[in-house]
Amino acid sequence: MNRLILPTPARIASIETDNYRTKTFVLETRLDATPGQFVMAWLPRFDEKPFSLVDADPVTLMITAVGPFTRLVHELQIGDSLWIRGAFGNGFCVPATQRRLALVGGGYGVAPLLWLARQQLARGAQVTAILGARTAADLLYVRRFEQLAAALQPGALSIVVTTEDGSAGELGRVTDELAPLAAQGAFDGVYACGPHGMLQAIELLAQEVGAPCQASWEAYMRCGIGICGACEHLGKVLCLDGPVLTTARSASVAG
Ligand SMILES: Cc1cc2nc3c(=O)[nH]c(=O)nc-3n(C[C@H](O)[C@H](O)[C@H](O)COP(=O)(O)OP(=O)(O)OC[C@H]3O[C@@H](n4cnc5c(N)ncnc54)[C@H](O)[C@@H]3O)c2cc1C
Ligand code: FES
Repeated sequence: MNRLILPTPARIASIETDNYRTKTFVLETRLDATPGQFVMAWLPRFDEKPFSLVDADPVTLMITAVGPFTRLVHELQIGDSLWIRGAFGNGFCVPATQRRLALVGGGYGVAPLLWLARQQLARGAQVTAILGARTAADLLYVRRFEQLAAALQPGALSIVVTTEDGSAGELGRVTDELAPLAAQGAFDGVYACGPHGMLQAIELLAQEVGAPCQASWEAYMRCGIGICGACEHLGKVLCLDGPVLTTARSASVAG
């Protein structure tokens, strides 16, 4: 197990199609890392972009095709190589005193949460996963969460699905489901990853009910190691100080 300082080729061992624009790539390499940390993935002579670790042993990445880099990665086949360096940044840090956790993911923000759920369930925490997307077709990893829940004692892992058009799960946004539960004091901690607007709403909500909250923030990244300043936002260098920030600190970068 290790941390890669320089881009290093990792062969693709398997590829799974998750939805119409998202694939999960399992690589033949392992890293020292925790849920919420990210790697920089490089295609030589093309570009390099950050991706959350779905798992570190073996390294697993969920990649949504939204632009030139991710579309090219989607063309890779089993046996091809993706160059990676990392893991970088701060991951989620759940205090041992927190027993009842809400894990809230929007879109490909679900990527680091399955690993976090597995980790926390293994130490006996009770997890509610709230997984949201615009439509049923955009949902990610619901089946993987359901498979995890099926292997556990009933009630250890609850899953709530939301879609903005009501085509699957509850009609609405993840915050519509989180708000009443959090107001009842159902959670000792809230852990979130997704679009900025969603994270801002969750932080506000968590602050209102006094629940500790950690959120993973996205930014445009180049070096990934605190040198170039590309990910600087209101005094925070998100590749070093984040991507996971606690409520008090992340509130200041939410603009
Ligand atoms: C810490 C961190 C972790 C990340 N983890 C993941 C991950 O696990 N999986 C993943 O797929 N991506 C993840 N990303 C985002 C990923 O790095 C970007 O989507 C990347 O820029 C895509 O590169 P590209 O060249 O394909 O598209 P770009 O040219 O960079 O983007 C193309 C266009 O799509 C827009 N865009 C970018 N992302 C989205 C989106 N999700 N939905 C709609 N429009 C979008 C951009 O604003 C731009 O206009 C992460 C980013 C960070 C900072
Ligand atoms: S990506 Fe260069 S400082 Fe964060």
